[in-house]
Amino acid sequence: MHSLLGGFGILAQDQALFYRIKEQPELIKVFVEEVLRYRTTIQAIARISTRDTEIGGVKIPKGAVVIPVLANGNLDSKKFEGPETFVLGRPNANQHLTFGKGIHTCIGAPLARREMQLTFEHAIKTIKSITLDPLRPPIPHIGGSTNEYGFDSLSVKIEPMPTLDLIFPRAT
Ligand code: HEM
Repeated sequence: MHSLLGGFGILAQDQALFYRIKEQPELIKVFVEEVLRYRTTIQAIARISTRDTEIGGVKIPKGAVVIPVLANGNLDSKKFEGPETFVLGRPNANQHLTFGKGIHTCIGAPLARREMQLTFEHAIKTIKSITLDPLRPPIPHIGGSTNEYGFDSLSVKIEPMPTLDLIFPRAT
């Protein structure tokens, strides 16, 4: 849900981006990857070190609790150029850490990606324009049991695509 809202928020605040994707629906896959990177839903996970090791010059003893902050990795300028900018078609967008890494990588990642792709495919087909609702500002969501980041509420104004279905109802 947070990832979907994150994506709708980006479309609603950038009309040019919305119309570009509407004209080129094949961009939805890369759009979804950049949403996942840019709006990292689960900010941090926890690990216990199984041996003495060293990461980035920091010694980590066996048994230490380590909190990898996935969101920081996704905003690392050594990995992603201009990380705080949403770039549609960023070449390495899918190298984000949003689903974790290693043996415990999110098992639901393919499903989450597919759900996002289908949702945005449907949205760009059926929505003529989308903007943020100036009367109802977004309510951020930060924290929770899995260090989530997103929106509790994100109100947008949608103008639907015109349809002939109202005049000629589909046979059911
Ligand atoms: C955008 C949506 C989602 C995000 C951002 C997300 C993110 C994550 C993250 C960060 C982890 C921890 C990975 C690690 O410890 O290295 C995780 C684990 C997991 N996720 Fe997801 N997830 C999402 C959707 C789903 C869905 C749809 C399912 C199931 C239908 C799911 C099932 C799981 C399970 C079972 C684990 C534990 C895997 C393990 O410990 O081996 N997730 N997820």
